[in-house]
Amino acid sequence: MTTIDPKDVSTAHFHSVLLTAVAPRPIAFASTIDENGNVNLSPFSFFNAFSANPPILVFSPARRVRDNTTKHTLDNILKVPEVVINIVDYPIVEQMSLTSTEYGDGVNEFVKAGFTEVSSEHIRPPRVKESPVAFECKVLEVKPLGENGGAGNLVICEVVLAHVQDHLLTTDHKIDPTKLELVARMGGNWYTKTSADTMFEIPKPLSTMGIGFDQLPESVRHSQVLTGNHLGRLANVESLPTKDEILAMSKTPEVSAILENFGDDEEGMDRELHLLAMQYLEAGQTDTAWQILLQSEHY
Ligand SMILES: Cc1cc2nc3c(=O)[nH]c(=O)nc-3n(C[C@H](O)[C@H](O)[C@H](O)COP(=O)(O)O)c2cc1C
Repeated sequence: MTTIDPKDVSTAHFHSVLLTAVAPRPIAFASTIDENGNVNLSPFSFFNAFSANPPILVFSPARRVRDNTTKHTLDNILKVPEVVINIVDYPIVEQMSLTSTEYGDGVNEFVKAGFTEVSSEHIRPPRVKESPVAFECKVLEVKPLGENGGAGNLVICEVVLAHVQDHLLTTDHKIDPTKLELVARMGGNWYTKTSADTMFEIPKPLSTMGIGFDQLPESVRHSQVLTGNHLGRLANVESLPTKDEILAMSKTPEVSAILENFGDDEEGMDRELHLLAMQYLEAGQTDTAWQILLQSEHY
């Protein structure tokens, strides 16, 4: 490992280390107005949700590393503490990027990037019609994190109204994550997007706790075949199979073949059982995988 002390490198260098490692970051596409009602629209990937009750979003327009100037979004919010945080999906990513151009004071990036303004219901800045989800927010507080170039300014926003495109909603009015092609910022000029085929689920027992790594049998924990992800999935079960279940599994054709072929070869048997269990794990059948893995403990 290389160690990097932020004090030993330039702000621009450490900025790059932070932004490449802390990724992918969601993008707050922030629409604000100045005291004369001029509209501004800019993206910010120092952004996340921090509370559900009250519903709080925070993003951070930083002082420019280059010359320590502040951004229009921050200047506007200090005068009119209201913002729409629009969510960015793949169909609008190029137009979103265009709005990050440093246009002059008072230039409306809705116009520059071809977005459509829709009036908000509770605040003055408009929302982006093309965004899949938009949050109307009142700014509770702006917390400057420093006075030099690169210093962030936390804009703490309370959501007062959310707008969601109808086709994204499930029958119980939640957002279907597989339908939302979200875009996120990586380091440099890189982005990533979510889609149904790049997403995966991790089942989590909510009512009781998983058994944990410390309860894995030695042969499983030090497997030559199973990865940390496989072990994590195995350690996530609430209980191990019963002796009867393990016995029943030993009589299935695929397991009994391994037990017969590797009767004298403990290492080979473990490897084959672990390879078979891995297939079931990857198919989401964790209980079956456990019944296979515990054969070597009981043969
Ligand atoms: C995807 C993306 C994410 C960005 N995230 C941030 C950020 O978190 N903080 C920041 O200060 N600037 C960020 N920028 C740069 C600003 O969008 C850019 O400085 C913009 O010109 C600011 O506009 P404004 O002066 O109208 O507020 C980002 C740019 C892009 C394209």
